[in-house]
Amino acid sequence: MEKDAPILILGAGTFGLSTAYHFAQAGHSNITVLERSAAVPPADSAGNDLNKIVRAEYEDPFYAELALQAMAAWKTNPLLAPYYHETGYLLANSAAAPEKAKKTLLKSLGSIQQHPAFRGKISPIETRADIAKVAPVFDGPMEWKGYFNRFAGYAHSADALTAMYSACCALGVQFHTGDAVKSLNYTSDKRCTGAVTASGKTYTAALTVLALGAALATVLPEVGRQVAANAWPVAHIQLTPAEAQKLRGIPVTYARDLGFFFEPDRRTNLLKLCPSGAGYTNFGSSTSSAESEGRQGSSVPPDFSAFITPADEEKIRRLLRETMPGLAERPLINGRLCWCADTADSEYIIDFVPGTSGNSLIVASGDSGHAFKMLPIAGRWLVELARAGKQETRRWRWKAGQDAGGDVSWRIGRPVDLKDVPLAVKSKL
Ligand SMILES: *[C@@H]1O[C@H](CO)[C@@H](O)[C@H](O)[C@H]1NC(C)=O
Ligand SMILES: *[C@@H]1O[C@H](CO)[C@@H](O)[C@H](O)[C@H]1NC(C)=O
Repeated sequence: MEKDAPILILGAGTFGLSTAYHFAQAGHSNITVLERSAAVPPADSAGNDLNKIVRAEYEDPFYAELALQAMAAWKTNPLLAPYYHETGYLLANSAAAPEKAKKTLLKSLGSIQQHPAFRGKISPIETRADIAKVAPVFDGPMEWKGYFNRFAGYAHSADALTAMYSACCALGVQFHTGDAVKSLNYTSDKRCTGAVTASGKTYTAALTVLALGAALATVLPEVGRQVAANAWPVAHIQLTPAEAQKLRGIPVTYARDLGFFFEPDRRTNLLKLCPSGAGYTNFGSSTSSAESEGRQGSSVPPDFSAFITPADEEKIRRLLRETMPGLAERPLINGRLCWCADTADSEYIIDFVPGTSGNSLIVASGDSGHAFKMLPIAGRWLVELARAGKQETRRWRWKAGQDAGGDVSWRIGRPVDLKDVPLAVKSKL
């Protein structure tokens, strides 16, 4: 591909920004990003959030290796290093955890226990005293079992995306916001030549990259059910500066069966909390017609995302009663759902779209809720794919016929569909 060939990237979230950044770094000079939201990072991007866990434990060593590469980049890339905080990661199960949660934890531990990168970084958590050693400020009962991993932490995700956006601008990437893509353009032999937006503007490109997360099917209905929108609830407690100061440096703390939280945000003193579970789907209001149409499931709802359910709230309060009971009855604020793009096997989709010609159309989606940590390196996979002309990594290929939305080995419980959430809860805010 010529360095001045026009590249069009749809979506300015985690995959979109990383892709723009890496193509620009590789010397490409005509890169345009289209984003339907008014601003970058977009309001509905999952990565546009206070913080995300950065860790290399995975059931699957393939992703563990990639996460280690990403963590090296989080630490050494001066653009991103200010947003990475290696606070450590306390991963455990509460006394009431189901068998599945215990199994997942053991697999996680297994993936790093023998790895040289973690030598001396892992300590078992078996007693209350073990917890006191790694998080002395927690004063709840915490009969947890698991481990503490020093070599992990979190990234301030919205700030990291903003930094990457600024770097892209400095490298000459053009951004156009506030105009959704209506359709893709093709030649008669199915070469994608770019996109047309709702306002009627046409963008011409030699290569178009679809980085639309769970909204992919709105532009590429052919993706069918291989990507399903799946959301996780998030809520916050507003701490006073003194309360936040007291919690400075706490590890990312995760009871697999209850949920997790982070060190309070250094700017706003917000404590972010996420209840665990299989999250929410959006398979449409009428199962019969939506199911048979086969593509309804992959969309992000236009609204109804600014809530959390009473069940999730209760889970968060249980998590707090276990860890920091003094905060357990505080009001939860800024509750919302954070939409991701799930695949059946939690593998990403990074591939040319079958049936299109001229290596002109690439999909980068299927984050499955575990892609943000890859921000520093994900775009490189797209540059490599464009160069290779074929996806050699089998697991990242187009997944025709694989329906997302089934049981996922590393999640606890079954997802709840938005249509089954009472309207009174959905319209609470
Ligand atoms: C980038 O590509 C577009 C589409 O082909 C073209 O109209 C534009 O002039 C190019 N810009 C530069 C700076 O080469
Ligand atoms: C792109 O597609 C739109 C809508 O299908 C069409 O009106 C337009 O002429 C096409 N533009 C190009 C450059 O092919």
